[in-house]
Amino acid sequence: MSTYRFIDGEGDLPFAKIENQFATAEISFYGAHVTSFIPQGEKPVLWVSRQSMYQYGKAIRGGIPVCWPWFGAHPSDRNQPSHGYARIMAWPLVEALDLPDGATQLSFELSPEALKQRVAVPDFQAKMTVTVGRELEVKLYIRNLGPEAWSYTGALHTYFNVSDIRKVSVCGLDGAAYRDSLTGEDKVQQGDITFAGEVDRIYRDTTGACDIVDAGWNRTIRVAKRGSASTVVWNPWIEKSQKMSDFGDDEYLGMLCVETANAGNDVRRLAPGADAELTTIIGIA
Ligand code: BG6
Repeated sequence: MSTYRFIDGEGDLPFAKIENQFATAEISFYGAHVTSFIPQGEKPVLWVSRQSMYQYGKAIRGGIPVCWPWFGAHPSDRNQPSHGYARIMAWPLVEALDLPDGATQLSFELSPEALKQRVAVPDFQAKMTVTVGRELEVKLYIRNLGPEAWSYTGALHTYFNVSDIRKVSVCGLDGAAYRDSLTGEDKVQQGDITFAGEVDRIYRDTTGACDIVDAGWNRTIRVAKRGSASTVVWNPWIEKSQKMSDFGDDEYLGMLCVETANAGNDVRRLAPGADAELTTIIGIA
């Protein structure tokens, strides 16, 4: 029996539901957006807001939004949407596999023609491959099919489910330089990251794994990566939560974003014919 099936999810969006010996997971074809990953016997690893919208044109608030072909604001055009178009476009399924080791793998591809109707981009291939096993691996693969070199930024903007943000620390970034996006200052991380207010930072030159150590639930989530030299850490805290219509006022307590990114000075430039990946690997340590 196959370990995946297709369901009408929230807002009637098409989803794939995976249930295998390792975990259950849900992925929306809208945005190739993973909204759930629950390893057997565990609490959900990903967080989604109870106020999330599930509507074409709006990003799902939670799970793993795919930010691409830019991270944050568009570099020159303020009318373009935050974090690019990938998370608000359809990604048709191109392959579904039950792998020999028991994991399940689904791949989605973004239509270059559909993206070109919205923004100037060269010919490209963009494929998302989601593998659900003991770990969740999400890979964004980009190839430049145009005749010119081309640059982009992006992120796998993962929202993690935590017991209480005040009991959580992020380990693995001690000594890393970061840009504080709230003040524009450049700083250096001293020790582990803890949370007692809004945090919005881009850690530079960070290619290693991070651990989200959750003392409240006595669990550690490891976030490893490939093709990324920047890590974004974000919690909106009280005021920003209140300003977001798709985010409950008190929900900042139960979530944390640790994003596998190509952000800040980690801009990817692809020569004609060149390719690159941005991959996050998430598991219970
Ligand atoms: C983070 C940014 O990656 O995403 C924050 O660092 C931003 O500045 C957050 O507020 C959420 O962005 P959006 O577009 O999903 O509301």
